[in-house]
Amino acid sequence: MSISTGKFPEYRPRRLRGSVALRALVRENELNARQLILPLFVRGGRNVRQAIGSMPGCFQLSIDQLIKEVASTIEAGVGAVLLFGIPEAKDEKASGAYAANGIVQKAVRALKKEFPELLVVTDVCLCEYMSHGHCGLVHAHGSGAIVKNDPTLKLLARTAASHAEAGADIVAPSDMMDGRVRAIREELDRRGLDQVPIMSYAVKFASAFYGPFREAAESAPKFGDRRSYQMDAANGNEAMREAALDVAEGADILMVKPALAYLDLIYRVKTEFGYPTAAYAVSAEYSMIKAAAEKGWIDEKAIVLESHLAMRRAGADILITYWAREIARWLRE
Ligand code: PBG
Repeated sequence: MSISTGKFPEYRPRRLRGSVALRALVRENELNARQLILPLFVRGGRNVRQAIGSMPGCFQLSIDQLIKEVASTIEAGVGAVLLFGIPEAKDEKASGAYAANGIVQKAVRALKKEFPELLVVTDVCLCEYMSHGHCGLVHAHGSGAIVKNDPTLKLLARTAASHAEAGADIVAPSDMMDGRVRAIREELDRRGLDQVPIMSYAVKFASAFYGPFREAAESAPKFGDRRSYQMDAANGNEAMREAALDVAEGADILMVKPALAYLDLIYRVKTEFGYPTAAYAVSAEYSMIKAAAEKGWIDEKAIVLESHLAMRRAGADILITYWAREIARWLRE
């Protein structure tokens, strides 16, 4: 039996669903380990492997432990990591973010030495290094925080360049200051790092889905919130203008973040610009599924594969996900 569609009476979708091989033949999208990037949190010390309570299976790692974690990540078939740093000390100008011997800079050097083939992406932001926890220089304003956009650009550019000098393969600014892609591009070029691409968090919303991350990276703002620089979840057209600016400023890869609640923007960004497009399945996307799986309410593997496939279907070429290792292993089974 086939269902007539009226318009295409001869079209019988079920003819293509008969067997595993037939379904595989006509499948439009798939997951592949080479598309995955695993975010990792690095901190000082030795032999530190500190569990992040709100993100089961994720840890703050000292560099020696990071190397072990990355070895098992590569072993699983994942070729790229995204580094976040937790510095020993924070201040009002985020000195740790651009210190030649900062935690991320040290971690990058150690990883590139140990695994020359590994793609090391670094998150470029100041919030983990600022005593107030904001992504740039700010002044308090009422109960909120107003960011000092332009003075922040120089610090971001220094941060990105110091990551690249340490050996980072891609720098990924997540701060959402206006003009930071151009400032970073110019500084990289000036220092002879013109081959290093920028993956910009082009479309980054002020999102409750970052909640668990702020425990992981110890970067919760001490006052106000990030609404004066991150985007309003209500705005799709504005997101496209943000992405267009980053394209004009020289971004090489465009990222949409969070992922599942913003599939429309993954689709629009990919369709409009045709750039390599990344989706970031953020911390709460991870924690929610983990929590429900722990309770036995859902099948974690099936849910994770389905939701990441949805990001691919929407147009994402690259998936930044805390499940990168598990997905790679599941794909091999
Ligand atoms: C830093 C940054 C954040 C995330 C990535 N980079 C937090 C924030 O903007 O508050 C969130 C990642 C996640 O939730 O997994 N600005």
